[in-house]
Amino acid sequence: MTEKTKKIIKIVKNGPFLVYGGIPLIKLIISEDDSRYPYEWLEKQAYPQKEEYALCRCGQSETKPFCDGNHEKSDFKGIETARRESYLDNAKEINGPDLILTDNHDLCNHAGFCDRAGGISNLVLHSDDSQARKTAIEIAGNCNSGRLVVWDKETRKPIEPDFQPSIAVTEEPEKGVSGPLWVRGAIPIESADGYTYEARNRVTLCRCGKSSNKPFCDGTHIMTGFNDGDESIKK
Ligand code: FES
Repeated sequence: MTEKTKKIIKIVKNGPFLVYGGIPLIKLIISEDDSRYPYEWLEKQAYPQKEEYALCRCGQSETKPFCDGNHEKSDFKGIETARRESYLDNAKEINGPDLILTDNHDLCNHAGFCDRAGGISNLVLHSDDSQARKTAIEIAGNCNSGRLVVWDKETRKPIEPDFQPSIAVTEEPEKGVSGPLWVRGAIPIESADGYTYEARNRVTLCRCGKSSNKPFCDGTHIMTGFNDGDESIKK
C-alpha cells in the first residue's frame, strides 16, 4: 500500500491535519432529547469525496473545515501536549452487574451525552435492567471523544459502534458552538514528530486551535464560542 492510498491523518507542525487515503468527510450535528440533553448525531452534509485534503487545526481558516494557510499568518502554535499512552493506562473503571464502564477523563470534550437518562455511571450500575443497559451502550457510542467505553462483563469485550473510517466535522447547536473533528473507525493519527497515537474507534481532534490537550479536543471550543460559520449553530 503506498503512502497515498493508506488511510492516515498526519499532523503538520504548527499547521493543519493532512488526510490521506480517500477518507470520507461528513458533517454531523447534535440533536437533543425532550429534556434537552444531547441525544444523537444527525448527518447534515457529505463533502465531495477527495483522495487527500488538509483540515484546519488553528481555527483561523476562511474556508473551514479546510486549511487555507492562515495558520502561518496567525503564527499558530500547535504543540501537541496529549499524553502518549494507551486509553486504558489512564482510565477509571466502574463495575455494574452486566456492563463495565471505563472512563479516561483526559479525553473529555464536554459534548454532554453522558448526562442523559440519569447519567451513564448510574445506568451501568443498573445494567442488569435491559433498558438501562441499552441506554448506556447508546450513550457511550455517542461519546465522540472516546472518553467512555462500555464493556460486556461476561466476554470482557468493548461494545462499540461499527464505524467505517471517516471524519465528521461536528456542530453543537444546543451549545451555540461548532465542535471538534470526530475521527471514527481507528484511523491512524501521526504527530508532527512521527509518533503514532493509539488507533481508536472514536477520538476527537481540536480544530479551534485552543485545546490544552492537542491534538485532541478538550472542550475549550465551548468556552471560547468557536464558530466555523455554520448558520445552524446560531441560537
Ligand atoms: S475543537 Fe478545539 S478544544 Fe474542542
